[in-house]
Amino acid sequence: MEFFNWCIIWLMILLSLSFPLRSCAQASNGYDPLSLTNFLRDYANASLSNPHTGTLNNISLPANFSGMEASFVRILTAKFWSRGANFSSFYIPPRVIPIPSGRRLAIVFENLGNWSSLYYKVSNYTLVAPVVGFMAYDSPNATAIGNQKLTFTTEGDPITIRFPHIDAAEGENVTRKCVQFGDGGSFEITNMISEKECITRGLGHFSVVVPSPSAPAPEPWPGWKKKRHRKLFVIGIVFGLAFLGLIMIVIFKLQTRRKLKSMEKQSEKDVAFDTFWVGRSKMPSASMTRTQPYLEHEDVP
Ligand SMILES: *[C@@H]1O[C@H](CO)[C@@H](O)[C@H](O)[C@H]1NC(C)=O
Ligand SMILES: *[C@@H]1O[C@H](CO)[C@@H](O)[C@H](O)[C@H]1NC(C)=O
Ligand SMILES: *[C@@H]1O[C@H](CO)[C@@H](O)[C@H](O)[C@H]1NC(C)=O
Ligand SMILES: *[C@@H]1O[C@H](CO)[C@@H](O)[C@H](O)[C@H]1NC(C)=O
Ligand SMILES: *[C@@H]1O[C@H](CO)[C@@H](O)[C@H](O)[C@H]1NC(C)=O
Ligand SMILES: *[C@@H]1O[C@H](CO)[C@@H](O)[C@H](O)[C@H]1NC(C)=O
Ligand SMILES: *[C@@H]1O[C@H](CO)[C@@H](O)[C@H](O)[C@H]1NC(C)=O
Ligand SMILES: *[C@@H]1O[C@H](CO)[C@@H](O)[C@H](O)[C@H]1NC(C)=O
Repeated sequence: MEFFNWCIIWLMILLSLSFPLRSCAQASNGYDPLSLTNFLRDYANASLSNPHTGTLNNISLPANFSGMEASFVRILTAKFWSRGANFSSFYIPPRVIPIPSGRRLAIVFENLGNWSSLYYKVSNYTLVAPVVGFMAYDSPNATAIGNQKLTFTTEGDPITIRFPHIDAAEGENVTRKCVQFGDGGSFEITNMISEKECITRGLGHFSVVVPSPSAPAPEPWPGWKKKRHRKLFVIGIVFGLAFLGLIMIVIFKLQTRRKLKSMEKQSEKDVAFDTFWVGRSKMPSASMTRTQPYLEHEDVP
């Protein structure tokens, strides 16, 4: 019984130690996609005070953004719904509804060019096209681009994204895939619909990827070779120990059960055995319900 309790406590301490360690393992490189998107929106808004509705406006970006392109368009919502829009890399078919819906909307288009891989990364894949993005905002009378971010609901065909310049050098025989970036570095990989086209049903940032040439074989202890990855290594150790603890618990429980079975066969009248048996069977079940919520919480960062 004491051994079992000790195992549980040990496990809890190890898991709580690993929690803060894991969160420091993620580092940021200073290229934040969200702040870039907000910067481009504000820059576009400031560049033209009363732009013509329905025409694409190129934005001339500051010199230190050289290589990046941005443009925006204001469209009447009714016209957008009935005719769609075909600007920059995006073909938006009719019957796409902006939410919330105003009289007019503004769409800002981005092409990150040679900055793409600084802002967007896909582990195990290599970008072979620039990251392009489109974001929609309200467009009230007083200003070109409002503060309200819109979402799209597509009732009809999906939105098509064109990638006219895909890097061919990254291997002729590899299958290219579409990638859509989400919040916080997340991404989703889908198949291309043609040589140079991807589809989507929502706003966001997109590119084309191929599998990275030499995907390293999975290492049981990442950072064994590189000293820089000491944190990862410690996490590996911690989880390894935790796993060992679990195995010990399982072995202990199995042994106990086997012992109990043989004792049960020997004698049913033994009073000492009875109390012993009740005491042991209560412990594991109570401990299990106490530990489970902790383990589940650990899985969601
Ligand atoms: C906007 O910029 C793109 C790319 O630099 C160019 O192809 C296009 O002609 C420009 N459009 C206008 C209206 O200046
Ligand atoms: C360019 O300079 C502005 C300040 O003038 C700065 O806010 C911005 O982050 C710089 N852009 C890049 C990509 O470093
Ligand atoms: C992208 O290319 C432009 C020249 O076309 C250069 O000025 C800029 O420094 C490059 N940016 C990066 C991040 O390599
Ligand atoms: C959208 O515009 C591009 C050129 O900018 C053109 O090649 C393409 O056919 C157009 N798509 C539709 C559906 O009109
Ligand atoms: C915006 O202007 C249009 C006419 O240009 C007018 O019909 C509409 O009521 C105005 N909307 C607001 C919120 O002022
Ligand atoms: C756009 O610019 C106007 C002034 O021209 C300003 O009042 C408004 O707050 C700006 N919008 C955003 C989203 O920054
Ligand atoms: C590409 O694949 C074809 C057969 O699928 C093969 O004949 C060709 O040599 C491959 N090319 C390269 C560069 O690997
Ligand atoms: C990348 O590949 C490694 C090993 O091939 C794998 O362990 C890892 O989960 C992969 N990462 C992603 C995000 O798929």
